[in-house]
Amino acid sequence: MKIQGKDYKTIWFENNIVKIIDQTRLPHQFVIKDLRTVKDSINAIRIMEVRGAPLIGVTAAYGLVLSLIEKNDLSYLKKSSEDLIASRPTAINLKWAVDRMMKKLSGVNSNEILKIALEEAKIIEEEDIDFCKKIGKNGLKIIESIAKKKKGTVNILTHCNAGWLATIDWGTATSPIYHAHKKGIKLHIWVDETRPRNQGANLTSYELNEEGIPNTIIADNTGGILMQRGQVDMCIVGSDRTLSTGDVCNKIGTYLKALAAKDNNVPFYVALPSSTIDWKINNFKEIPIEERDSTELSHIKGLDKDNKLQEVLIYPQKSKAMNLAFDVTPARLITGLITEKGVCNASVDSLKGLFK
Ligand code: MRU
Repeated sequence: MKIQGKDYKTIWFENNIVKIIDQTRLPHQFVIKDLRTVKDSINAIRIMEVRGAPLIGVTAAYGLVLSLIEKNDLSYLKKSSEDLIASRPTAINLKWAVDRMMKKLSGVNSNEILKIALEEAKIIEEEDIDFCKKIGKNGLKIIESIAKKKKGTVNILTHCNAGWLATIDWGTATSPIYHAHKKGIKLHIWVDETRPRNQGANLTSYELNEEGIPNTIIADNTGGILMQRGQVDMCIVGSDRTLSTGDVCNKIGTYLKALAAKDNNVPFYVALPSSTIDWKINNFKEIPIEERDSTELSHIKGLDKDNKLQEVLIYPQKSKAMNLAFDVTPARLITGLITEKGVCNASVDSLKGLFK
């Protein structure tokens, strides 16, 4: 998708270096950063220079390529794979991508292993682009039918950033939006700010602006009243881990938005590629929920009057804060799952019908 009129992907491999757009600097600074070692990749995932379930999966896959470039050694590769998986616990794509790479590389001789690792990482990357594009086409049909009934601008609410910056291109939740915009459907997007890291305000609004899609940032608690006033036609969010039961773990606050949507009969859709499905866990309480540093709540970053990036403390110095990064939306609150294979109900039978 576009930044200042130029097409970008979020990650690419060039001359044995992994290039990323540093998302901790957006929206105020556009910086392309080099990852040269597996440690760089682990750090980029941990401090969220790259974030979003599909993108951290692909970054981990390239992290293993970097590990092999540093040292063509199986025990180093194994340690790298474990450290990558541990860098963030909730989004299943990370473990999924590392496991897929390690399976592909098992038994491969040392002369070939780097070439095969690079090929597989590129396949995972291309596959994600393809899946996100298909999610867009499948989700477009839903937006089209709402537009037909409504005969006016379709108002869509989204939470966090499940945009192209969270994937490689297109995004998951935003892909139907981009496809609808390209077809000429009039849209307006309500962008949840998404405290504490403000992925909605900093990333989703930024990427929608760059694509020329009208959007308005709202405080996270505003969605409810907008739904009561009939100002939201549908919600689309992403997923960090979707259980086979149809329960969806996504950015903290998603659950409350789904409750408000249910109470107001607003359709609530989750867009996800199959790499986000966890077929093993079927009790949502077993999902590891990441708890991040409380300074992400107590401090905020922005431009000062001299246009310099500054970080300031906004809480009382003695206060404690808790920073859970994800919550789970039960399947009963979800209208449908938009996947690369089609749209299905959030249920075991529907998901298995599509994928098994
Ligand atoms: O903590 P983040 O920014 O990595 O969380 C991202 C989300 O919660 C997204 O909604 C999810 O990863 C889906 S991305 C297509």
